[in-house]
Amino acid sequence: MSLTTLPEGLHQPSLLQTLALVAQPIEFLERCTQRYGDTFTTRVLGWQSPPVVFTGNPAAIAQIFTAPADRFELGKVTHVFRPLTGDRSLMMLDGEPHQQQRQLLMPPLHGDRMRTYGQLICDLTRQVIADWSLHQPFSIRDTTSEISLRVILRVVFGMTPGSRYHQLKQLLHTLLESVTSPLYSSQFFFPLLQQNLGSWSPWGAFLRQQQQIDELVYAEIRARRSQFDPSREDVLTLLLAARDEAGQGMTDEELRDQLMTLLLLGHETTASALSWAFYWVHQERSVLKRLRQELEPLGHDPNPDRLAQLPYLTAVCKESLRLYPIALISQPRKVKEPVEIGGYAFEPGTIVIPCIYLAHRRAQTYSNPDQFQPDRFLHQKFSPSEFLPFGGGSRSCIGAAFSLYEMKLVLGTILARYELVATTQGTVKPERRGITFVPSKNFRLSAIARRSSPSAVGIRG
Ligand code: HEM
Repeated sequence: MSLTTLPEGLHQPSLLQTLALVAQPIEFLERCTQRYGDTFTTRVLGWQSPPVVFTGNPAAIAQIFTAPADRFELGKVTHVFRPLTGDRSLMMLDGEPHQQQRQLLMPPLHGDRMRTYGQLICDLTRQVIADWSLHQPFSIRDTTSEISLRVILRVVFGMTPGSRYHQLKQLLHTLLESVTSPLYSSQFFFPLLQQNLGSWSPWGAFLRQQQQIDELVYAEIRARRSQFDPSREDVLTLLLAARDEAGQGMTDEELRDQLMTLLLLGHETTASALSWAFYWVHQERSVLKRLRQELEPLGHDPNPDRLAQLPYLTAVCKESLRLYPIALISQPRKVKEPVEIGGYAFEPGTIVIPCIYLAHRRAQTYSNPDQFQPDRFLHQKFSPSEFLPFGGGSRSCIGAAFSLYEMKLVLGTILARYELVATTQGTVKPERRGITFVPSKNFRLSAIARRSSPSAVGIRG
């Protein structure tokens, strides 16, 4: 078979393509795939810039994920995160330095180390929902956001409530709220808008917010360096202790960039994924019923280890991540050496993007792909290029295990305490919120009953 260089794709002016992708990404991806199939070429970086190829084809995605890491470097698109995370962030690194930082950051987010946070996650969840009033419609997104922010501050910094903790929590919350507005977030996509015209200008306001956060983060780093306690189990302790081959520790600036990366990527993402899980569970009565039956024997204060092992709860979380993956795409990869993917030969400079959303909506992989059917995860195994909410390959999400664990614990803990019903007006649609997609604001839940005493005896481990 002779190889062609680029898949078919859009011929519209590149500015229109870019605007369509930024304004209505899901519609854009669906339109392209209906017209050109699951692999297509766009010019979302401008005609003079390299072509950008999206693929939702599992075979092509597998080739990208398993290709040697040196075949690709980071695509320009990833750089939208640079102003937030800094130059030394894991996300901005390539090659050997990237792999080294990953090795360093992964252990606390996996296995036994991760499970030591189980009780804390359940306790923080119960704190946040403690004063819920009955019959008052509320946004579950606000709740999940508050929980995941508290969790990530504890896991990453090991920070306990105190003045710096509260200030940082408030500032991060405000920054992330601003980042979610379309005007504000456009600045990250269009560098021309990044003009500091004083604190009243959007970019000036962003820089000011960031400076305030930096001051607190640097103050925490300095305090922890001067009174280093190796027995602590948070990520900052681990990074402070790390030494490279020459025996050098990380600088304050390197630490700041990694910590900000974890705070920003570990908070919004899990909170948004959880709001979808709440949405689907309260949309599909039969799912809620089965989930309640599974949770029932664990009582109103379930043990985290037992929650994490529940098969249906796990399937519900996975199916939510499949149907509306909060990240529609993996990080874009830029071809460094000629490479063949999915029957196409790509030249250096081409940007290839594994498209999570399209892979998850393939009828060949998932029967009735637009329906919420957790059972599919009980009866079938999907490959890493068919189910990829956390991306894959050498750049896969380092928080994948942690966030799935957190999702199960938060969802299970809340459902064990409260009976909720949806009180939504109108249709709920996916809506962009910063870097993630969430149910639209009209999605509301209301607590109609509280369980205050254990219904099962002897179940707490
Ligand atoms: C439901 C929650 C989450 C989802 C859906 C998610 C999804 C993703 C995706 C799709 C990527 C890009 C992977 C690729 O390019 O192949 C990614 C990267 C990343 N994620 Fe997550 N993520 C979540 C939670 C977290 C958490 C909790 C953390 C940290 C505490 C985290 C830290 C990161 C980092 C540091 C990267 C960059 C990895 C690299 O460049 O090597 N994420 N995530």
